[in-house]
Amino acid sequence: MKKRAVITGVGHYLPKRIVHNSEFEKTLNTSDEWIVTRSGIRQRHFSNKDETTSKMAIMAGQQAIKNANLEASDIDAIILATSTADFTFPSAATMVQAGLGMKSGFAYDVQAVCAGFIYAMSTANAQIISGQANRILVIGSETFSNLMDWNDRSTCVLFGDGAGAVVLEAYSCSGDKEDRGILSVDLNSDGNYKDILHVDGGVASKTTGYLRMEGKEVFKHAVEKLARTSEKAMAKAGVKSDDVDWVVPHQANIRIIQGTARKMGIPDEKVIKTVQDHGNTSAASIPLALSVASRSGQIVKNDLIVTEAIGGGLAWGAIVLRW
Ligand code: ACO
Repeated sequence: MKKRAVITGVGHYLPKRIVHNSEFEKTLNTSDEWIVTRSGIRQRHFSNKDETTSKMAIMAGQQAIKNANLEASDIDAIILATSTADFTFPSAATMVQAGLGMKSGFAYDVQAVCAGFIYAMSTANAQIISGQANRILVIGSETFSNLMDWNDRSTCVLFGDGAGAVVLEAYSCSGDKEDRGILSVDLNSDGNYKDILHVDGGVASKTTGYLRMEGKEVFKHAVEKLARTSEKAMAKAGVKSDDVDWVVPHQANIRIIQGTARKMGIPDEKVIKTVQDHGNTSAASIPLALSVASRSGQIVKNDLIVTEAIGGGLAWGAIVLRW
């Protein structure tokens, strides 16, 4: 018998304030048409001061725990993927642990920018397989609106805020590709590309800083690297593109999403898309998409899913799992 980490619950939280593209037309030399054509984004949610990264994570986490028919006290660990924790420290994850009323277990943040959820799932999977924990709450929560330069039209129209969460539980399985749960993981990073997507602040400068991006460069790397990591993850799991029921990509840009799926040989109707409604919510985008698609009945039990993401670092990776 082999142990697998199976998703047994999902949840999400989106800030109350919805901002349509037309709002940017009032302050920037931009248009709804430009934003939709270049990115696929029609609206995004922006948090208010009470909708912090940790508070949104608590809301998403509570939903996921309930959806898994569990109590917070059943959870052994929280792994929170974020680049926008409320404080430099403590971690947002320990704030979520307290917010959920947990009196035991362990909690920590993972920082791999837009690839953060893939990295967090990989870590949770390893801890479940090794027996270190049986039930892990994995969350992606971000408030990228805090990193926006509102005068930079090439970045500020692309991002949004939100949180998504899943509960991963240890299941005994036969060890083949028909198992439910995480079947394979592929992770990569290359720090030589740090300048094409970064925040120009931090502890050293005692500033929060602003997100800076060379959009064309990021685009070029994204499609190539996402298709390659997805293919590697599928090969590790022993599955082919025809076996895949859904691709759940990081929701950065519709052209990256569709270009990657084309390269992978996956038809567009098998790709979950939420970028039009949420914008790019960084580490929150995949768990948000999983939660929305499972709630709408698109993703159902036993579906084979490939999920992939790339972000600052560059850091990128993919996971193959059966729902
Ligand atoms: N409204 C109107 N015009 C704009 C805007 C805007 N919001 N932003 C930029 N422009 C202008 C540029 O200034 C440029 O004008 P110029 O030709 O006079 O200099 C023109 O539009 C074309 O700009 P490009 O950068 O060539 O536009 P491109 O087609 O590359 O699209 C975009 C830009 C959408 C950023 C694209 O490069 C992209 O999607 N890159 C991927 C980046 C991404 O998704 N990053 C997310 C973070 S990383 C991740 O999550 C994967």
